[in-house]
Amino acid sequence: MAKDVIIACDFPSGEETMAFLDKFQGRARPYVKIGMELFYAQGPDIVRRLKDRGHSVFLDLKLHDIPNTVGRAMGVLSHLGADMVNLHAAGGSAMMEAAIEGLSRGGQRPLLIAVTQLTSTSQERLERELLIPRPMEEVVTSYARTAKAAGLNGVVCSPLEAGTIHAACGDGFLTVTPGVRFAGAAGDDQQRVTTPAGARSLGSDYIVVGRPITQAPDPVAAYEKCLREFLTDNN
Ligand code: C5P
Repeated sequence: MAKDVIIACDFPSGEETMAFLDKFQGRARPYVKIGMELFYAQGPDIVRRLKDRGHSVFLDLKLHDIPNTVGRAMGVLSHLGADMVNLHAAGGSAMMEAAIEGLSRGGQRPLLIAVTQLTSTSQERLERELLIPRPMEEVVTSYARTAKAAGLNGVVCSPLEAGTIHAACGDGFLTVTPGVRFAGAAGDDQQRVTTPAGARSLGSDYIVVGRPITQAPDPVAAYEKCLREFLTDNN
């Protein structure tokens, strides 16, 4: 199965995104993730621009609404050419099924993955604010099983949960994992983190890495270090 590093392009404008990606000229085009900030600022055209430049695109809009609304919104997104899109599993199986139906209206259907619990959510917050008095791993695995039953391709989760999810849902069910930091670096607002090498040994299929690459003094070197640690055995 394809494993890759996806760079989270959390920039406020298309210009800053393109200026950042220009640093990678002359190399293989990295897989990129566009989140709400950039998509809301630039509109759908940003996806087409990135596809035209040869990038694979994960459109991280985390949809969460009633089934009809999500299905129709996914119908619109299905025409943009993204390779991967997502929603919140907390929206339930009817919403996820409607999303697949909507996404299938375009040409080739992008991979559809579900956010289980945000990697910024701690066990304490899960219990005190979301009123879910169960271990994080149990909650995340249950959401993953529901997503799989609804026909989704995988989940967004912490690398720390990738093994359990593969055991529950099979190796072909993708684990896309943010919450990755180089050894010794600050976790920022992420709570459930590991290193690229750790994510590899835990079985993540894709790691999503933002600030450790975008804010690095040498982003290309940081990206290559990430690829090396994630894809190869000896590092
Ligand atoms: O900068 P950093 O590496 O923390 O970026 C992680 C990226 O992954 C951000 O764009 C964030 O929105 C996204 N993400 C996340 N946790 C999830 C889903 C997406 O951190 N559960």
